[in-house]
Amino acid sequence: MGKGVAKVLAGIDDQIHEIILLGRSEELGKATIREIESSSGNKKLSFVLCDLAKLSNVRDVINEIQSKHKYLDCIFINAGLGYAPKRVETEDGMDPHFQVNYLSQFMLTLNLLNLLENSENGGRVIFNVTRGGEIFWDDIQMKKKWGYEKGIQQAMAAKRMFLVELHDLYKGVTGKKVSFIGFEISKTVWSNQIAIIPAPMRIMATLMKYLGTFISIEKCGEIMAPLFTENQEDSLTRSGKFITRKNNEFIEITEDVNILDRDAQDRLWKISLELCADEKTARIAADLHNCLR
Ligand SMILES: NC(=O)c1ccc[n+]([C@@H]2O[C@H](COP(=O)([O-])OP(=O)(O)OC[C@H]3O[C@@H](n4cnc5c(N)ncnc54)[C@H](OP(=O)(O)O)[C@@H]3O)[C@@H](O)[C@H]2O)c1
Repeated sequence: MGKGVAKVLAGIDDQIHEIILLGRSEELGKATIREIESSSGNKKLSFVLCDLAKLSNVRDVINEIQSKHKYLDCIFINAGLGYAPKRVETEDGMDPHFQVNYLSQFMLTLNLLNLLENSENGGRVIFNVTRGGEIFWDDIQMKKKWGYEKGIQQAMAAKRMFLVELHDLYKGVTGKKVSFIGFEISKTVWSNQIAIIPAPMRIMATLMKYLGTFISIEKCGEIMAPLFTENQEDSLTRSGKFITRKNNEFIEITEDVNILDRDAQDRLWKISLELCADEKTARIAADLHNCLR
C-alpha cells in the first residue's frame, strides 16, 4: 500500500512531490524507485534502508532523515508485518508485530515531529489502520498466547491510541500545528501479502479477486492521496479522527471507548518509551507532555 500511495503522489501536481521511501531491502527499494520514476517522470525519489524490527536501525534512520531534510510535509505510517507462520522474537526481544507495526513507528514519529512542524504546507501523519483490536496488557509481547492476526490487531489498536494522544498533546498549541489521522481503507487491497500467505488462503483470495472484492495498490493510492496533499486547514479538521472513504468522501468511524481512554493511552505511551529505551525519544516525549499538554 505504501508503494501505491508513493506511485500516485509521484505522478500528481506536476510531479512536484519529493518522496522518501523506507524499506528493509535496498534492492527492492531501488527497483521500486526506478519503477515509479519511469511511470511518473518524477525524479525526486530517494530510499532509506530501514528495518523496523531493529530499534538501533530506527535510530540510524532518524539521524539520516534529520541530517538530510529540513522539513517533512507528511509521514505515512504504513509498513507492517502481516501473515507469519510462528512467533519469532526480534533482536530487541519483542513480538515482531508489536515492534514493526507499532513501536518502531512510535519512535520514528516522535523523532520526526520537529520536521513536520517546519512544513509550510502543514505537517501531518497518516496512520494506515483498521478497526478493532485490543492491548494485551498482561502479555504485550504475546509470549503466553500468540497469533499473527491478534498481533496485527494489537498493533492497530496501539497505533490508534498513539495518534489520538498525539492529537490531544498538540491541541491548543500556538505556532506548532501537525495533524494525526487514522485512515482505514474500506476495501481489501491486493498487496504483496497475497504472495506471503499460505496456498489455501491464496486460492481463496484469487477467487475473491474475480468477485471484485479487492482493489489495486494504485487505486488505494488514489483514494488516500488527498489526505497527503489537502490544505492544512482541512487536514487539521480530521486530526485525531479515525476515518475511511465511502461514496467519494471521507467519513468518520466511531472510535472504540478503550482506544479513547486517556489512562490507557498514557499507560501504553509509558510502556512504549520504556521499550524504546532511547534517551532522545524519552526527552521528546517529556517535552511534549510538559510543554504542550
Ligand atoms: N492489504 C490490505 O487490504 C490492508 C487493509 C488495511 C490495512 N492494511 C495494513 O496496511 C499496511 C500495509 O499492508 P500491505 O497489505 O500493503 O502489506 P505488504 O504488501 O506485505 O506490505 C507491507 C510492507 O511492510 C514492509 N515491512 C515488513 N516488515 C518490515 C520491517 N521489519 N522493516 C521495514 N519494513 C517492513 C514490507 O517490506 P518487504 O517488502 O521487505 O516485505 C512491505 O513493504 C499494513 O500495516 C497492513 O496491516 C492492509
